[in-house]
Amino acid sequence: MSDFLLALDQGTSSSRSIVFDARGRIVAMAQREFRQIYPQPGWVEHDADEIWSSQLATAREALDTAGLKAADIRALGITNQRETTLVWNRKTGRPIHNAIVWQDRRAEPTCAAMREQGLSELVQRKTGLVIDAYFSGTKLKWLLDHVPDAREQAARGELAFGTIDSWLVWQLTNGEVHATDVSNASRTMLFDIHANDWDDELLHLLDIPRELLPAVHPSAHDFGRAAPEHLGAALMIGGIAGDQQAALFGQACFSAGMAKNTYGTGCFMLMHTGARAQVSSNGLLTTSAAQESAKPAYAFEGGVFIGGAVVQWLRDGLRAFPASSDVQGLAESVPDAGGVVFVPAFTGLGAPYWNADARGTITGLTRGTTMAHIARAALESIAFQSAALLQAMSRDAVAAGGSPVHELRVDGGACVNNLLMQFQADLLGIPVVRPKVIETTALGAAYLAGIGSGLYAGTGDVAHNWQAERTFHPTLPRERAEELMASWERAVRQATTT
Ligand code: G3P
Repeated sequence: MSDFLLALDQGTSSSRSIVFDARGRIVAMAQREFRQIYPQPGWVEHDADEIWSSQLATAREALDTAGLKAADIRALGITNQRETTLVWNRKTGRPIHNAIVWQDRRAEPTCAAMREQGLSELVQRKTGLVIDAYFSGTKLKWLLDHVPDAREQAARGELAFGTIDSWLVWQLTNGEVHATDVSNASRTMLFDIHANDWDDELLHLLDIPRELLPAVHPSAHDFGRAAPEHLGAALMIGGIAGDQQAALFGQACFSAGMAKNTYGTGCFMLMHTGARAQVSSNGLLTTSAAQESAKPAYAFEGGVFIGGAVVQWLRDGLRAFPASSDVQGLAESVPDAGGVVFVPAFTGLGAPYWNADARGTITGLTRGTTMAHIARAALESIAFQSAALLQAMSRDAVAAGGSPVHELRVDGGACVNNLLMQFQADLLGIPVVRPKVIETTALGAAYLAGIGSGLYAGTGDVAHNWQAERTFHPTLPRERAEELMASWERAVRQATTT
């Protein structure tokens, strides 16, 4: 029996597949981008067929590059962009509409109406979420309300809803299996994270028939077998998790107080809270963590909307440099930001501020300010926003009788930027640890599949595999770090009053 694992990592802008060995080392990787469809301002869609074909192509390519056959793979795991919503016909397998992507805002009027009806407390208590068009539930309602004949077909039990994991499982199993895992279900705003089941009251409120919904299982589970024609053998689907929860798992953050931050276009920070679903007093979401068994596991989550995207804006909007990778050299050409603070609130601010009307602001400009200072301040803004999130998490943890976060594990593209990671550690006053394998999202899915297929006994094996590549220790005196955080908070106040 072979012990390689295949992770299908279906992200917002590309489909990727990675083959790992049993010790969690990368053997081969393949990636394909696919089309982003913008039918009108604020709307974002994906073609579900393109998602499936690009994902399958990368899985085949990764196996080829690894020189492996599907029979060499113990199991596959799926991780995916979360919340993105698809409905298809159970008989024909055809989607009734493009997938509505998590970034899409079209369901906002439904959310506003729910808030006006005073449903925020109910939704938070059951789902851990704030009412927002980000989540799947109101997107699904939009599809049922707007696609001709959809409600009638749904009433006849002919339709299936799924997030992208469910769609891939359906395709891989040729329509045999309609399922998802708790971490994806917890992002729909239809799922009671305490009961680990779809919630009839929420389904009724949004007029969504239960028959549409997939079966929900723990994240490590025998979800079924891929039909042999897809990958060359009847591969077991042994694990599924939404990408951010998969990254938390891949970072071996399994107990209360362990946290990870993924530095991508935006940043997603999650802190495990153990078997207790805690409610935040600081604007964080409560979400189901990836579960290795039926035992519940939860996390706090906060997002930074503009993370690495601030570098793209400097490159494309200000034409400050030709390539994103130039930012580090430019930022390092000055010893500090020279008093410049950059709040990239281009689309408002998320947790812990939650201000949709905030706009981008640069403060502290003098005659001596150069593009290098602005570039440095832009990089620092990623760390400032993340620090504000981590401090909020620590406050919530302490209020619940726990301890503050004592270490931050990092991943995602921008974590290779040493200047940024050092500044992050300096601001936080705790070590920032970069693992050897920074593809932790895919790794988390592979580990879940490893547990689901019995290759690993449980999370202990995963924790044993996890290895640090570099630890950034704080070097800045705390008073200086606190002054810097205070200057950030002042700039945020300006960004929210313009
Ligand atoms: O909640 C959205 C998140 O899951 C998307 O992640 O990495 O595909 O942009 P990513």
